[in-house]
Amino acid sequence: MQREGVTDQLKRPIRDLRISVIDRCNFRCPYCMPEEIYGDQFEFIKKDQWLTPDQILKLGRAFNSLGVRKFRITGGEPLLRKDVFEIIQKLKSIDGIEDIALTTNGMYLSRSLDKLKLSGLDRITVSLDSINEDTFKYMSGGKGDLTKVLEGVYDAIDHGFAPIKLNVVIKKNINDMEVLNFIDCFKGAPVILRFIEYMDVGNLNQWNHSEVVTSKIILDTINKEWQAKPLESNYVGEVASRYLIEDINMEIGFISSISNPFCGDCHRARITADGKFYTCLFANRGHNLAGLIKSDVDEKELINHISSLWKARNDRYSETRDIKIKFPTEKVEMFHMGG
Ligand code: GTP
Ligand code: 5AD
Ligand code: SF4
Ligand code: SF4
Repeated sequence: MQREGVTDQLKRPIRDLRISVIDRCNFRCPYCMPEEIYGDQFEFIKKDQWLTPDQILKLGRAFNSLGVRKFRITGGEPLLRKDVFEIIQKLKSIDGIEDIALTTNGMYLSRSLDKLKLSGLDRITVSLDSINEDTFKYMSGGKGDLTKVLEGVYDAIDHGFAPIKLNVVIKKNINDMEVLNFIDCFKGAPVILRFIEYMDVGNLNQWNHSEVVTSKIILDTINKEWQAKPLESNYVGEVASRYLIEDINMEIGFISSISNPFCGDCHRARITADGKFYTCLFANRGHNLAGLIKSDVDEKELINHISSLWKARNDRYSETRDIKIKFPTEKVEMFHMGG
């Protein structure tokens, strides 16, 4: 059943479903899952609560019938889930899905690539916050190994996944001095660097506006050495603003949720590993779809329910945030909801 045209209160369609398949992670990035909070005692979603590959397929079909054309598999770290390949394969079988991407921290990428290719995955994005070994270690909460992640990136290129997007969250005085090094490091490689403004997602990372480096400052830094020319968006509602450094034929992008929010065309929905549906990255409340997904009710009922939730949506958090109010609402953590 193809039902085009479900739009929300701000006339935004639903195009992109980000599926968090697990909330656990092998990293403890201080801005996402600080070790002191997410230690051994922390209770993540129990495995028996995870949606199964078939339940994710059912959900994927329902969202597809409402307009979704693209899935992104996220976590936590999605490659920690052994059946992630089966999940991708099942989602790929849905008619009308144009793109399936995966966001990973890269530690287990090399060993997963054969199966990812076989599953039909289209694209890979790797989170890579530093190319300095010590800073990388620090930014992954002492867990990451830069050499291994870089190996993953180049192996992914060899497996035909080029271009690989590399997400770099920039924090002032931590890795902002590395911007030009990043460009030097990946010059000539089929990668797209995306510099991300550090965002106030979740409640537990002690986010502070003074730690944000705006995209403008990063672009100015780049333009002291290179000339970056703006490019058209690939599609309406694209998160990153794209630029090309012509001299080295390198695309870079900026994700500016703080300095230049992009809620106006936001067509992204998110689902947690246990089936909660969120209509905004900064939402404080999810809609539990697990009951409907797990029951035998007609798929139509699930579709109608999602449709009514999307029609009621009026989120535009990034456009209305007041940075002077520290943590204005309880927000859901990013590793739980998926990035
Ligand atoms: P493409 O499919 O390649 O266009 O990827 P994407 O632009 O959707 O980017 P990706 O999933 O890699 O997200 C990059 C960063 O942008 C992450 O830090 C996300 O959390 C952030 N981001 C993605 N979507 C949203 C959004 O809807 N709102 C906000 N505020 N940030 C977002
Ligand atoms: N601000 C910006 N980006 C973040 N990510 C995680 N937490 C934050 C934050 N507070 C990024 C990760 C990953 C993507 C899914 O989201 O680094 O690249
Ligand atoms: Fe894990 Fe990504 Fe969160 Fe880091 S940002 S702790 S890699 S989920
Ligand atoms: Fe979409 Fe919410 Fe992000 Fe705005 S803040 S772009 S509405 S997810």
